[in-house]
Amino acid sequence: MDIFLAEKQTPTTQPSSTREWDAHIYHRLSAPQVSWGKKVLARLHLRGDEDVMDAGCGTGRLTGELLEALPGGRVVGIDLSQHMLRKAREHLHAHFNSRLSLVACDLLDLPFGRVFGGIVSTAAFHWVLDHDLLFRSLHSVLHPGGWLESQCGGGPNLAVFRQRVSALMSVPKFREFFSGFREPWLFQTAEEAAETLRRAGFSKVSTSVEAAPTVLDNAQQYREFISNVILQRHLALLTAEDLRTAFIDNLVEQAAADTPAFCLDYWRLNLSATAG
Ligand SMILES: C[S@@+](CC[C@H](N)C(=O)[O-])C[C@H]1O[C@@H](n2cnc3c(N)ncnc32)[C@H](O)[C@@H]1O
Repeated sequence: MDIFLAEKQTPTTQPSSTREWDAHIYHRLSAPQVSWGKKVLARLHLRGDEDVMDAGCGTGRLTGELLEALPGGRVVGIDLSQHMLRKAREHLHAHFNSRLSLVACDLLDLPFGRVFGGIVSTAAFHWVLDHDLLFRSLHSVLHPGGWLESQCGGGPNLAVFRQRVSALMSVPKFREFFSGFREPWLFQTAEEAAETLRRAGFSKVSTSVEAAPTVLDNAQQYREFISNVILQRHLALLTAEDLRTAFIDNLVEQAAADTPAFCLDYWRLNLSATAG
């Protein structure tokens, strides 16, 4: 199967309200994700001619770095969001052309056989709520012996921030909008993730959780970041602009009073495994 025939889109059942991002803002604000992702890329031991998937490639800031490390290889960037892929194409296609394909599809339903030598993924897996299905799906597209090298949110990721969000969601002004709401993330512990990878058929599994506290420069940057990179699914449920503003204002005020101010309590889950 030639996976590099064309850019393509496969059907997904997810509505655009839960799969789309503001890609221009993400591209501009994703310095924290890019710095974490570079450390993941530094863990790779590449020959330079592999076919690699970037699972949840977003706007492709790290996909470009991956392609630079694969002068004789090819990369398929996968993402659910058309906006993200459009932005990735805009800044990567001229440079990498035939060595890059971008495919709009769900990581839970990959339209490939066992065609990849490796999978890289950064800051994406926690947006997928079923990791058994996710890791089985990834395993199914790797050559025997193919590798997975990735990082996502895990352990107590954003526990302080999420506690504030949860408290705010239950105040009378906002409560009705969040009835039946489920957080759009899954943050596994290192032990849970290792078990899930093994259940999916991976071997040589190594997982760890590390603290990555991230301080934003000022109130405006914090506001933009939490609105577009963390809480976009929450805000989509608030039907009026003044409600969305009041929700974010409250969180910005609390963060301004922290020491240090505007710090997000990020924790990252590192995953390394081989398709057994
Ligand atoms: C925070 S962004 C990370 C982008 C990039 N890897 C980076 O580190 O900057 C998470 C990406 O995962 C994608 N994503 C989330 N769930 C997905 C799924 N089920 N299938 C494919 N992509 C998904 C989102 O659309 C988004 O572009």
